[in-house]
Amino acid sequence: MNPHRDEFIIRFSPPTHAPLWLQRGAVLSEHLTIDNSPLLFGCRTGICATCLIAVLAQENGELLPPADDEKELLEIVAPADAKARLACQIELCADLTIHYYGK
Ligand code: FES
Repeated sequence: MNPHRDEFIIRFSPPTHAPLWLQRGAVLSEHLTIDNSPLLFGCRTGICATCLIAVLAQENGELLPPADDEKELLEIVAPADAKARLACQIELCADLTIHYYGK
C-alpha cells in the first residue's frame, strides 16, 4: 500500500473509455457506470460474476487478495486466470489497468 496517495487511476484495456481517478478505498461498483466504463454490474455482492475483470497491471500500491468467497467464485468462472477479480469486490488502493471480460 502506498500511504502517500489519496487517489488512484483506473485505465481500461482496450482503452474504450477515458481513465478515471477515484479516491483511495473507492468501491468500484459504486463509481463505475455504463457511461464512464465498459463494466457492467449485476448483484454487486460477489455472487453473479457479471463484473469479472482481469487486473492486467497494478502500480503504486497493491490490491488486497480476494476474500474466500471471491476466491471460490473465481475458481469456478476463471479457474486458470490468476489476474481475474470481481470488480465489485475491489476497494481501490493502487493504480489499475483492467480488462472487462463481458465485452
Ligand atoms: S456484480 Fe455480481 S459479482 Fe460483481
